[in-house]
Amino acid sequence: MKIKKAIIPIAGKGTRFLPATKEIAKEIIPIINVPMIHYIVQEAVEAGIEQIIFVTSSGKFSVEDYFDRNLELEAYLERNNKIKELELVRKIGSMVEITAVRQKEQLGLGHAVLMAKNMVEGEPFAVLLGDDIVINPKPAIQQLMEVSVQNDGANVIGVMEVPKAETAKYGIVKGEVINERTLRMTGMVEKPKPEDAPTNLATPGRYILTPEIFGILEKIPRGAGNEYQLTDAINILCQKKNVFAYKFEGERFDTGNIHGYLDATIDFALKDPAIKEKFIESLKYRMNKYGITL
Ligand code: G1P
Repeated sequence: MKIKKAIIPIAGKGTRFLPATKEIAKEIIPIINVPMIHYIVQEAVEAGIEQIIFVTSSGKFSVEDYFDRNLELEAYLERNNKIKELELVRKIGSMVEITAVRQKEQLGLGHAVLMAKNMVEGEPFAVLLGDDIVINPKPAIQQLMEVSVQNDGANVIGVMEVPKAETAKYGIVKGEVINERTLRMTGMVEKPKPEDAPTNLATPGRYILTPEIFGILEKIPRGAGNEYQLTDAINILCQKKNVFAYKFEGERFDTGNIHGYLDATIDFALKDPAIKEKFIESLKYRMNKYGITL
């Protein structure tokens, strides 16, 4: 079955980006001039997703507005003959169908996904978390969709290798190795300490899930951090159903923290021909100014 819907939870408060997130949704903070959420939605759209379901909280209207038409701005750009800008703005406004559902209390990722149950209507769906941007010619979520199709519509969790010392930041999977990139999962644990982690295969928040997950999410107790964890529901799901972990191809930027955000900004600037040269000049000048040599 073709996967048409993607859930993107965006209810988090973004405290690592305070004070900006006092007034701006974290997802709207741009890498150069493109909001972080644009990359996540773009990944889903390029993979063929037709409907995005944002799970939101108060203060997130700007994310919905960003993907809507802005007729006043369009008219202004048209009047001033700014055709390129007009096309850009129109394209974003018609990128994909957007719907939103509220998560009234922030009780964890499992709880956030459960809020979208009625909008998913019994179909398999994708989940993409916004803190990680993954860049690859074939979108990471599309790679997982393909593994799902090859395995009769199974659940697939996107994973990557992380240093063992970092397992406590992620959901960590375990399973039987099927091939170089694929495991049949036998379990998943949320944020284990390095000494307790079964592997170093972590999910940066890319999932293909079947609707059975909702019945499990409705019953699980609170887990790590006293929150309802999606990881705990997947751990139960893989005891009953085929769940695969797939090491996707792509470069991942952890934009949920300041260093990952800066790393992405520098990378995106260096690969943009319109920015690159002056940016390198600035880097050289600033490094020299602060007495930094490489
Ligand atoms: C969430 C998930 C975790 C996943 C991570 C990826 O944690 O619970 O399993 O590995 O996202 O970013 P959070 O970072 O929201 O605490």
